Amino acid sequence: MQRLSRKLKAENKTIGFVPTMGFLHDGHISLVKKSKLKADITIVSIFVNPTQFAPTEDFEKYPRDAKRDKKLLSSNGVDYLFMPDVSEIYKLNYQTFVQVEKITGILEGEFRPLHFKGVATVVSILFNCVLPDYSFFGQKDAQQVAVIRQMTRDLKFDTDIIVCPIIRESDGLAMSSRNIYLSDQERIDALVLSKSLKLAEKLIGEGERHTRVIISKMTSEINLVASSKIDYVNIVDADNFSIVDKLIFGGKYYILIACRIGKTRLIDNVIVKVS
Ligand code: PAJ
Repeated sequence: MQRLSRKLKAENKTIGFVPTMGFLHDGHISLVKKSKLKADITIVSIFVNPTQFAPTEDFEKYPRDAKRDKKLLSSNGVDYLFMPDVSEIYKLNYQTFVQVEKITGILEGEFRPLHFKGVATVVSILFNCVLPDYSFFGQKDAQQVAVIRQMTRDLKFDTDIIVCPIIRESDGLAMSSRNIYLSDQERIDALVLSKSLKLAEKLIGEGERHTRVIISKMTSEINLVASSKIDYVNIVDADNFSIVDKLIFGGKYYILIACRIGKTRLIDNVIVKVS
C-alpha cells in the first residue's frame, strides 16, 4: 500500500482516503463522493478493527459482505480498495497503541473505555500505509472525529481531516452498518433517536438555553420507547467537545445520543448554532 501511495505521489497525484469497516451504505458512499471531488485518487479501506471492540461487543458478528462492497466501490469510481487481514495490521507481538487523552474519557469513552484507543491506533496505522493528502470522516461519529482531529494535530500527521454530514434514511434514521441488527419493530423504535434530536432543536429554537432541561425532555421522550436503554444524552461545545450547562448566543454545539434499541447500540447527533 505504501509503495503504491508513494508512486501516486511521485506522479503528483493527490490521495483522498476513506477508512471504513465495510458493509457499506450511502453514508460511506457520501464520503467517497467528497473524496472524488477533492482528490485525484480515492482509496477506501475496509478493515473491521478488532482493537476497537471490547470482548463483550460485536466484533465477531459485525456484518461483512466484501463482494457487495467491492461492487459498490467500483461502481462509485473508487480507484483502490485496501483490505488488509487482521494479521497484517497486527502482526505477532504487536505492542504499540495510540492513546488520545482527556477527550476520550467522556461520553463514548465512558461506555466503551478502550474503543478510542483502538480507533486512534488503527487510523494511525492506516494513515501510515495510505499516506493520504485528505482523509474523510462522517459527522455520524462526532466524538471519533474530535479524537482523530486531536491525534492528527498532536502527532503531526500530514493529512487534512474532512468531515461530511450525516446521511439519513428518508424517515430520519441515521444510516449505520449496525441497523441490519434491528427487527421490524426495533427499526420503528429506533426513530426515537432522531426524533428526540429534533425535539432538542425545537426547544432551542424556542429559546431554551439550559442543557439540563433539554436533556431531561429528550430522555423522557426516549424512555417512552420500551425497547430503549439510554447510555447517554448530552450536549458539548462543538469546538472542544466539553460538556456544557448553558448554551450561549453565537455558540455551536453537538447534541449527542447513545442508546440501545433492544440489543443494538445506536448513536446519533445533531449540530446546533445558537443565534
Ligand atoms: P465505519 O463505522 O465503517 O464508518 C466509516 C466512516 O463512515 C466513518 O467516518 C463514519 O463516521 C462514516 N459514516 C458512518 N455512517 C454514516 C452516515 N450515516 N453518514 C455519514 N457518514 C457516516 O468509523 C469507523 O468505521 C471506524 O471507527 C474507522 C474510522 C474505520 C476505524 O476503524
